Amino acid sequence: MDVKISPAKKIHGDVEVPPDKSITHRVLIFSSLAEGRSVLRNLLDSDDTLRTFNILEKLAVRFDGDFSRLEVEPPPKFLEPEIPLFCGNSGTTARLMMGFLVPLDGLFILYGDESLSRRPMGRVTKPLRMMGAKIWGRENGERLPIAIKGTELCGIDYKQNVASAQVKSAILIAGLRAEGRTTVEEPFKSRDHTERLLKYMGADLKEDGRKVEISKSVLDPIDMYVPGDISSASFFITLGVLHKNSKLVLKNVGLNPTRTGYLEILKRMGAKIDMEIVEAEPEPYGRITVETSKLHGTIISGSDIPKAIDELPLLGIIGALAEGETIVKDAKELRVKESDRIKSTVENLRKLGVDIVERSDGFVVKGTGKIVGGEGKSYGDHRIAMLLAIAGKLSMEGVRIKDAECVKISFPNFFEILEGISMG
Ligand code: S3P
Repeated sequence: MDVKISPAKKIHGDVEVPPDKSITHRVLIFSSLAEGRSVLRNLLDSDDTLRTFNILEKLAVRFDGDFSRLEVEPPPKFLEPEIPLFCGNSGTTARLMMGFLVPLDGLFILYGDESLSRRPMGRVTKPLRMMGAKIWGRENGERLPIAIKGTELCGIDYKQNVASAQVKSAILIAGLRAEGRTTVEEPFKSRDHTERLLKYMGADLKEDGRKVEISKSVLDPIDMYVPGDISSASFFITLGVLHKNSKLVLKNVGLNPTRTGYLEILKRMGAKIDMEIVEAEPEPYGRITVETSKLHGTIISGSDIPKAIDELPLLGIIGALAEGETIVKDAKELRVKESDRIKSTVENLRKLGVDIVERSDGFVVKGTGKIVGGEGKSYGDHRIAMLLAIAGKLSMEGVRIKDAECVKISFPNFFEILEGISMG
């Protein structure tokens, strides 16, 4: 599906973004391990989260209701499915499910689409094997498909060499059912939804800076409302600060401090962003107001990176319309996302007339004050398709997006909402 986005004269209105993807995966998985029936409200209904849901259903978890209100009943014993388990495009499904499956009785096979089959899995299979897990996979467990034969696990002390919430979560989910104590340490703190939710559900989990410790625990069921996804909100936040005539209010957006790095970066660049936070347990959320702002360039590096990892490509657009130079570095991880997001961002934005140069670990953008427009392609990556749409609204001539249907991976009604706030 190709989509043509026309420039907007005005951006205005209230936006309700879809529920958080990371939290939806996690509450589905954790409530399947709880002792009793959980109630989950406002889950994200998208391709990626459906992959996790479908896999859990095949393992005999019972779900009643729909994604607006779902009751989850863990089975007395997880079943060995007759067929391989499809993770689609979803890295979170593949990596968290590995941690989930390793201690279960049975043989399990995980596979994914072309993009997911290229992504690194050794970062998860290696620590899980150290815990005793039996795992076989392509390139010695570096890539999907992966086969797991459930076995008893023992705790480990593990230092990750990349900041990754998926890796950390896989180890913690396995550690929850392993003998002894498991610790994980990251070079920089990544999103902490797993830590917050597991603690909230009664797990024996302690945090000390970048280090997390977990021991074998029983989880209590939960009743939980999933807030809106800050990563989905970030597309509109970008449009709201950059458009010359705009004011937007985004409601019920998750404002966990390990996810708000992009807002901090934009504020540092001069953006007018206002947040009203409701300190809710286990996840804070609130309202964000953004309006036309004058931005200046900055350097984004180090601990900025994991807190804004999924939003970094948007800095290509921000940099084009900010004054001076905007530099993103230390962001090599972008190369192993749903697409190589350094390449897919730089190639697309250059074609739209942006002065942007690729670096091995990021990119450098010169603020020229304009985006001309033209044609871009999604590379099958939902966030790149949405980035192109935002560029289109801010451009002089509009943008045609090739293969835009992938937005359904995280944000099925993205184009409707975008058109709803665009005038002229
Ligand atoms: C996610 C963690 C991040 C992020 C991804 C979702 C999660 O990936 O990019 O979209 O839900 O844990 P990494 O763990 O690879 O950094």
